[in-house]
This record gives sequence, C-alpha cells and structure tokens, in this order.
Amino acid sequence: MADLHSEKILILDFGSQYTQLIARRVREAHVYCELHPYDMDLEAIRAFQPNGIILSGGPKSVYDEGAPAVEEALFELGVPVLGICYGMQLLNRHFGGHVVPAGKREYGHADLLSQGQPGPLFDGFFVDGKSPVWMSHGDHVEQVADGFDIIAATDNAPVCGIQNVERNLYGVQFHPEVNHTPRGEVLIDTFVRKICGCSGQWTPGQIIEDAVARIREQVGTDKVILGLSGGVDSSVAAALIHRAIGDQLTCVFVDNGLLRLNEGDQVMSTFAQNLGVKVIRVDAEDRFLTALAGETDPEKKRKIIGGLFVDIFEEESNKLTDAKWLAQGTIYPDVIESAGAKTGKAHNIKSHHNVGGLPDYMKLQLLEPLRELFKDEVRTVGEELGLPHQMVWRHPFPGPGLGVRILGEIKKEYADILRQADAIYIEELYRSGHYEKISQAFAVFLPVKSVGVMGDGRTYEYVVALRAVETKDFMTAGWYPMPYADLARISSRIINEVKGINRVTYDISSKPPATIEWE
Ligand code: XMP
Repeated sequence: MADLHSEKILILDFGSQYTQLIARRVREAHVYCELHPYDMDLEAIRAFQPNGIILSGGPKSVYDEGAPAVEEALFELGVPVLGICYGMQLLNRHFGGHVVPAGKREYGHADLLSQGQPGPLFDGFFVDGKSPVWMSHGDHVEQVADGFDIIAATDNAPVCGIQNVERNLYGVQFHPEVNHTPRGEVLIDTFVRKICGCSGQWTPGQIIEDAVARIREQVGTDKVILGLSGGVDSSVAAALIHRAIGDQLTCVFVDNGLLRLNEGDQVMSTFAQNLGVKVIRVDAEDRFLTALAGETDPEKKRKIIGGLFVDIFEEESNKLTDAKWLAQGTIYPDVIESAGAKTGKAHNIKSHHNVGGLPDYMKLQLLEPLRELFKDEVRTVGEELGLPHQMVWRHPFPGPGLGVRILGEIKKEYADILRQADAIYIEELYRSGHYEKISQAFAVFLPVKSVGVMGDGRTYEYVVALRAVETKDFMTAGWYPMPYADLARISSRIINEVKGINRVTYDISSKPPATIEWE
C-alpha cells in the first residue's frame, strides 16, 4: 500500500483568518498537509519532511518590532516555499527587499495583471494576461529582493507576485485560497503538484484504506466502544472503525428523547440493519425528562444533559468489561483549535460546548481515526463508506439537541410538537432546494400561547419560530433570505398539520448580536 503521508505540505500560520482555507485547498489537490504555528521548531520542520512549505497571511506588518518571523534557515532547506500576503512580504524582506505601508489599503476584488515571464506558478492562471483575485492588505512590496522577478501586479500595487525559480521560492500578495479568487485552486494545485512534485494520493479511497490499516495496527484484537450520536463525525468514525475491525466495535447510542423526528430509528436502521454494526440503543427519554423537570436555565439544562449522557454511557461501557479503546469522532479543526488554545494563538473557528467528554478514570485508550480530516473530507469518506447522503450532509445539530430549542422548561409534549414542526420545515427545505444552500436550519418551540382562529372557533396555542442561517464558521452568521412563497407554504403546513401550533414566525436576526440557537 502507498504511504499516504509520504507526500506532504507544511503550512505555517501567521494568524490570517484564511489559513484553514489554504489547508483545505491543498487537501482538495489531493495532498496531505498540516497546519502549524509560524514559530515551529526547525528540527520539527526537518523531521516532518515537507515537500513544500506555505507561509500564510497574517494581521501584523513585517517591519513591526517583534513581528512574527520564521527561523532564517527555513529558506535554506531546499524545499519550495510559497508565501501568501504576509508570507510573501516576509520572504521578500528576508532576501533584502523592502516592504512599506501602502498609500491606500487594498481590500476586495482586483484584476491581477501578468508581468514579465510568468514562470511555473501561474500556469493556467491568467486568461489574456489577467485574472480576478481577492486582496486584503495594508502593506506592499516597494522594492523586490535581489534574485527575485516580479510576475504580477495590479493597478494599485506594482508587486503582487514574485519568484526566484532557481531556488523555488514564490510569493503572491493576493489570497488564492479564498473563493473570491476564482482560479485560486489552480494556483495551489500547481504549487503542490508541479513545483513541489506531489502526485496527489490523498483521495477518499486511499484515506479509507490507510485509516483501516492504521486502526487494525493500533487496536489489534482489542475491543472498542464508541458513543454514536447520529451526527456526522461519530457516524463516519463508526463506519470506518467497523470497516476495519467489524465486531470488535460496539457502539452505544443514547436516545435522550431530545432528538429529531425518527432520528433514533434512522440511526438504528443505518448502522445496525444496513451496515451490521453492533449498536446498543439506550432508551433514556424518561431519565432525561425527569432530570430536566422544572429547569429553565439554558446552561443548567446543558449541564444536566451532558452529565447524564456521561453517566449513561459509563453504565453501558462498564458492562463491556473487555473494551480497551474509546473511539471518538475528533476532526482536524478540533485538533487545531485545541493546539491554538494551548499556545494562546486561538483560531477564529467554532469553539463549542460538546456534550460531556468522558472522565479520565475510564482507563481507555483513545482511538480518533478522523483526527487528520476536515469536515468536508469526513463527509466524502462517509459517503464512500456507504452512509446515506442525507446523513453525512446534514446540518449540525447541537449535543443537547432539542433541549436548547425548547425555550425554558422541557416537557415531552413540547418536544413532540417541535419534532413535527421541524420535520415539516426541513422536508420543505429539501423539496425547494434551499437545504443545501443553508448552513443550519431548525424550528424553535416558544412556550407562549397566542390567540388564533380556526374554522368558527377560537384557538389558544403555542408558537414556533423558524431559523435558517448562512455562515462559514458559525462564529458569525446571517439569516437566510427565504422567499415569501416558501415561507408561506411552510407556515401553512405547520399550522395545519401540527396540533398545538397556531402561529409561525421567521427569525431575522444575525449573529452577532443574536446567537444561532435560541438558548
Ligand atoms: P450559537 O448558538 O452559539 O451556535 O451561535 C453556534 C453553533 O454551535 C452549535 N451549538 C452547540 N453545539 N452543544 C453543541 O454540540 C451545544 O451546547 C451547542 N450550542 C450551540 C449550534 O447549533 C451552532 O451550530
């Protein structure tokens, strides 16, 4: 089997909000990469044996006192380097060029113009000597370092691309990693394949083959347990581990009574019936509802749900006395995020309150087969493993489930009403083609009654609010501009079909200042 990690790109992070996108573009070119802080030790870099290094953008100026820099010897490793924005300025300054504040900050679209001999980096990038790009910078290169050629410019900035082909050093002022640079992925693909010489082995099929071999090697004949939630990450982890070790895996699925309509049955039919995975389903609705009775505070509800999940998971896993491994669906952004939190260089990505976390005294070793994968990769791997498309592309669902979508006290009656309304809403979003354009959509139960009229009678029933947001990172979000005709159909279906609801509202708050969930 080919060693999937024999080709790799190192991305050094100078704090740009786009750094993770660089990594995703490299992966899309089917090459493995890792993202590390800019001050990664040179020995560690050597040991990593990158085929190429990408220096990210960053918020600082290279001429500032104490500005982030790489170890000088990095450029002597003989490894191709691509500097993006701050990374290009660093490269230029390192070799004796000048970087100065630009007269005018440049932010947004620009037309990149080819200059001189374009060289290998821009293969296929320009059409008629031009290419639209996304800029975001306050400094620019005033004088190019000796040995470097200028290969691109804009009307505002005379130096937007530099190269030293002999030494394989390249820099671009714009951001090829963002979607606003339409041919950006061509440039990144050219860098990793043509300049760094990677052949592109990182494909879903190979990822699975590699993960299966590694899981087998790690666990041998040991038994593994996994908490299956029905969410994308734990589902894909379960399918992958099952592919590797079959019956040595036992999943524990805790139905807390706060799941979406038919979710428990769907999880069981996908895993137990279709894939033949051993799944213990724990029907714990009553325990959760009893523990939550009378509680109205959102954070206390979260704690109760998280705590009880751990208790139940522990009870079940204690029954599996021979398990040695605990499998978790940790993914690469979680790894980067906790590394960032440790070094104080936290990244601007979703950091969220996952339910639980297991106590240390459960002396199990951790098995995390998705640790190297981005969410999109987890999804394609999931599909390749035979999980249903709708399951792997489902919107995120919070650990406490409907517990934070029923405002205030949670009651079974409320959960049942909400499940029905939510199912109609989501069904309509699929049918109208909105679902895939929305990042997250759901219904919220409001425990207030309002007056309505149905037929000849007066009604006095509950309210449901509909939420749909568009977001990249879940840290900020905008409300989705749902067409009136779709809103009208969804509202009328919910009011007609769900007993207990006589009023539907649409949430038009963005985050911030609102949050995505209502609690
Ligand atoms: P907010 O409401 O903070 O949500 O804007 C951002 C994202 O996080 C999810 N979320 C949670 N996920 N446990 C989770 O696992 C939670 O307690 C929780 N609260 C919010 C939310 O659904 C959205 O995707």
